Amino acid sequence: MPDADAADPAFAADVLACFRGRRRAIPARWLYDLAGSELFEAITNLPEYYPTRTETALLQRYSGEVAEHGGAGRAVVEFGSGSSVKTPHLLRAVKPSHYVPIDISGDFLRESADALAADFPSLEVLPVEGDFMHPLALPDAVAALPKLGFFPGSTIGNMVARTSVDLLRSMRNTLGEGALLLIGMDRIKSPDILVPAYDDAQGVTAQFNLNLLHRINRELEGDIPVDRFAHVARWNDSYARIEMHLEAQADVAFQIADERFSMAKGETIHTENSHKYGPRDARLLLRSGGWTMCHEWTDPDNWFALILAEAKPFQTAP
Ligand code: AVJ
Repeated sequence: MPDADAADPAFAADVLACFRGRRRAIPARWLYDLAGSELFEAITNLPEYYPTRTETALLQRYSGEVAEHGGAGRAVVEFGSGSSVKTPHLLRAVKPSHYVPIDISGDFLRESADALAADFPSLEVLPVEGDFMHPLALPDAVAALPKLGFFPGSTIGNMVARTSVDLLRSMRNTLGEGALLLIGMDRIKSPDILVPAYDDAQGVTAQFNLNLLHRINRELEGDIPVDRFAHVARWNDSYARIEMHLEAQADVAFQIADERFSMAKGETIHTENSHKYGPRDARLLLRSGGWTMCHEWTDPDNWFALILAEAKPFQTAP
């Protein structure tokens, strides 16, 4: 067993590549260590952060319709289940015999799987520990069952277009032709709403972003002067995404694992993307990944969409 404080070599490689190269960017997944995941949890409760509460309300209200549109009785497979807080609404309506939560964090996964199993005594809960970005095998017990994939939270928004298409195709492979997918996607809206959702008045999102620098200092023997960096959230209209950056407020020099680096005042490190999708954007993205929309549900402001799609047989010519 590696010792708990040993740095993840993949983390070290991504961070060093950021500072050695010319493109200052670190993959968003490194934001989500224990402290980062707790801060994200706090973000979901902020008044400015509308996605979580909007999607939860949609699930509460429309899970019955998801069941009517063909979801009823299917084995539910959740990608990146985390604490599975939104799932009970869906499970109550769909009434599956089997539920397969997939998550990269084994501890988190087993804890929430046990809690769900206690709330749904007749449900077979079969957790799979793994990275859903890579192909994975489902338990034999669900191999022959029709499936409903569940991918909430607009997690797909973290990915650039090409990566999200790869993921949608891989989900289609995992779930099989004829499967359904219920996916949450955040909609394009005014930057006046979007920017505060990623730059809240209490500064929780700033803490979440700056935690990445603390993590580098903690795990990679760094001495980055974190108080010389500021959280920046900006709307990139061309890419239809919110970008989070960490901006140097002065010329800074620091070390990471015995290597010296510097950044000029005003330079930024790009730390996360959150892509937003209009109705047609969402459908095209899904079709590119092999999924045809069957139905969608939105809130009265049209801020967030819950989309049900089907893995139809591939057809080229009309
Ligand atoms: C977890 C990717 C859905 O993009 O809204 C929220 C992440 N980052 N505030 C999002 C996030 C800062 C969140 N996702």
